[in-house]
Amino acid sequence: MASFLPVLFLVLVFAPFINSANPPNLTKDYYTKTCPDFSKIVRETITPKQGQQPTTAAGTLRLFFHDCFLEGCDASVLIATNSFNKAERDDDINQSLPGDAFDLVIRIKTALELTCPGVVSCADILAQATRDLVTMVGGPSYEVKLGRKDGLESKAHKVRGNLPLANQSVLDMMSIFKKNGFTLKELVALSGGHTIGFSHCKEFSNRIFGPKPDPDLNTRLADKLKGLCKDFNTSNKVMAAFLDPVTPGKFDNMYFKNLKRGMGLLASDQILFKDTSTRPIVELYANNQTAFFEDFARAMEKLGALGVKGEGGGEVRRRCDHFNNLNV
Ligand code: HEM
Ligand SMILES: *[C@@H]1O[C@H](CO)[C@@H](O)[C@H](O)[C@H]1NC(C)=O
Ligand SMILES: *[C@@H]1O[C@H](CO)[C@@H](O)[C@H](O)[C@H]1NC(C)=O
Ligand SMILES: *[C@@H]1O[C@H](CO)[C@@H](O)[C@H](O)[C@H]1NC(C)=O
Ligand SMILES: *[C@@H]1O[C@H](CO)[C@@H](O)[C@H](O)[C@H]1NC(C)=O
Ligand SMILES: *[C@@H]1O[C@H](CO)[C@@H](O)[C@H](O)[C@H]1NC(C)=O
Repeated sequence: MASFLPVLFLVLVFAPFINSANPPNLTKDYYTKTCPDFSKIVRETITPKQGQQPTTAAGTLRLFFHDCFLEGCDASVLIATNSFNKAERDDDINQSLPGDAFDLVIRIKTALELTCPGVVSCADILAQATRDLVTMVGGPSYEVKLGRKDGLESKAHKVRGNLPLANQSVLDMMSIFKKNGFTLKELVALSGGHTIGFSHCKEFSNRIFGPKPDPDLNTRLADKLKGLCKDFNTSNKVMAAFLDPVTPGKFDNMYFKNLKRGMGLLASDQILFKDTSTRPIVELYANNQTAFFEDFARAMEKLGALGVKGEGGGEVRRRCDHFNNLNV
């Protein structure tokens, strides 16, 4: 009997951890019984928001990517900093995470709390809204499985090194994607997310100004960008350019066609065509939008499953920007 005691002790002490380490089975119909109007409420909230603020789709897609690459898709990116904790979204890299995407999730949460209080996680809201918005602006549809719990931690210092930067090589970016289980082909497919949205001038200013302008950048685009960004350092206006200057609001394969003409905005975009390891994948997607859409859709499903938390590993937040326990 005595020999069972330590075992029992171990099971009791570690049970919550075993539970959280065990990922939940996400299912398509997770809220069918507990919040039957979930999909409808998400759609009815994003439609007017996207109409008023056409950059919402891109902002939300980026927010979802950042959330999933840091501690899994658990809405940790939505947490606001307080006096106890500097949260993920207040790392420098967040400057770009636009208020509109945060605002969207909060609007959806507010609507859901009126209908089915305490049921739908912020992580699921972000996953579902991202898919709906991608589809709404012309991208592929794909299945979103549900049942994620919201995470209990959000730390700014964990951002560095876990998200790709615009000045990285393919190898550097790949090491971050590989850590998350993605292949080189999936890195290229997901980078196609840059077919919508914009970037601040500071992310590409070294390619147009300074001693060594980037020879790989299309000269006509470079001239346009110089005009657009000329006061980016001194003006307090936010200056930014479209990642896809040809069809900025439409989710299509124009991003890859642009790369072939030197019209990738970020160095990390253009390098996908310059580097011989990724060029054939860019060629494929530039020539075949169906192939891009299929691979993007599969990769988004995979992204949405990263590090998800179940019962014991998280909670359903009452407010998306605060943990339920306000003292952490
Ligand atoms: C491959 C490595 C990647 C790098 C180096 C990178 C870097 C960046 C940078 C620097 C910006 C501009 C931020 C700003 O100044 O506002 C940006 C924007 C964006 N990124 Fe990425 N990104 C990468 C991958 C991804 C992935 C995988 C997705 C999603 C599938 C994504 C979606 C977006 C979107 C939609 C925007 C536009 C955001 C907006 O308009 O508000 N990116 N990215
Ligand atoms: C999840 O699904 C797998 C395979 O379908 C099953 O073996 C497992 O018991 C399920 N886990 C939970 C927590 O439902
Ligand atoms: C990003 O971080 C800056 C600086 O810490 C902060 O002022 C800003 O509100 C943050 N943006 C968002 C969208 O959280
Ligand atoms: C790359 O960019 C980051 C932030 O944008 C910066 O901190 C870093 O110094 C840059 N690295 C190189 C090698 O230029
Ligand atoms: C912007 O500021 C940086 C750092 O302060 C400086 O190196 C760069 O030359 C400036 N660029 C322009 C276009 O003024
Ligand atoms: C484009 O890709 C799709 C999906 O992989 C494939 O079925 C189709 O044959 C391709 N089309 C062409 C013209 O290569």
